[in-house]
Amino acid sequence: MNSLVPTEKIWRNGAFIRWEDATIHVLSHVVSCGSAVWEGIRCYETPDGPAIFRAGRHMRRLIDSARIYRMETGWSAGQLSEAACDLVRVNGLRSCYIRPIVMRGYGSLGVHGGDNPIEIFMACWPWGTYLGEEALEQGVDVCVSSWNRMAPNTLPALSKSSANYMNSQLIRMEAAVNGYHEGIALTPEGTVSEGSAENVFVVREGRLLTPPLTSSVLEGITRETVIQLASDLGIPVLETPIPREMLYIADEVFLAGTAAEISPVRSIDRIPVGSGARGPITGKLQSEFFAIARGLRPDRHCWLTAVGVCEGVV
Ligand SMILES: Cc1ncc(COP(=O)(O)O)c(C=O)c1O
Repeated sequence: MNSLVPTEKIWRNGAFIRWEDATIHVLSHVVSCGSAVWEGIRCYETPDGPAIFRAGRHMRRLIDSARIYRMETGWSAGQLSEAACDLVRVNGLRSCYIRPIVMRGYGSLGVHGGDNPIEIFMACWPWGTYLGEEALEQGVDVCVSSWNRMAPNTLPALSKSSANYMNSQLIRMEAAVNGYHEGIALTPEGTVSEGSAENVFVVREGRLLTPPLTSSVLEGITRETVIQLASDLGIPVLETPIPREMLYIADEVFLAGTAAEISPVRSIDRIPVGSGARGPITGKLQSEFFAIARGLRPDRHCWLTAVGVCEGVV
């Protein structure tokens, strides 16, 4: 699952290089210190050709993630979105996953790291579902992790940094070892935070609840998309701290993320969520999300960037 499928070209600091040449020195700062930030972006196939979902928003978050760590990329969100379009076109893909990475490179290994060059790579490759083929329809089995998300003012949750994914790995590995698809971590205070790579939504009596940004979550772009779609569909949304036990008495729970898209949760710690199948509100949001992302319903919020009409170097 989730194996890399090499494509022809990778974008590096403004130029295209061969996939095999996108290497770094083992003593690059990022290897010892985790000093990288990255994005995960999907490009969907639409009737008008490939289109990147929320490209500008992802690139803005990449720049913001870097800024928190005093890393200046030297690129604007618009330029990076344009580069992403070029990349998809150069590789001739109709749909794919796009991975920009900003990192501290090779030069010195002091913890400060500020005198190392900032390198930006962007790769893309074909990618299917993240939590398994049946996840979108049947739902996934999750556990509450014994690992917490990062405490405030330790590793910043709003920065999508590589270092944060060490915590995510612990959550995801523990879930897998115990036979679950995914784990949901709590905050250090014991309220619901997020999955290893997804934000969490709970439906209770017709309302949609999700933890606020102060609950050690990434400011997910799918989260933001779901909140907008819920508002379009007249579903009340509340960003509020969620006690763990709310997960066990919710009518519906789903995970939202670029990789997982909108994946229903069918059980938590072996307790069925609602009827144990995808609930009606999850279903509505999921079909609205996919219809827009796949260009089958009008793009009323301008979320799609058509790869074909992008200007730039090919
Ligand atoms: C920890 C974490 N939370 C939430 C998300 C969802 O964010 P997005 O919807 O922007 O992909 C991700 C996705 O990468 C993540 O890694």
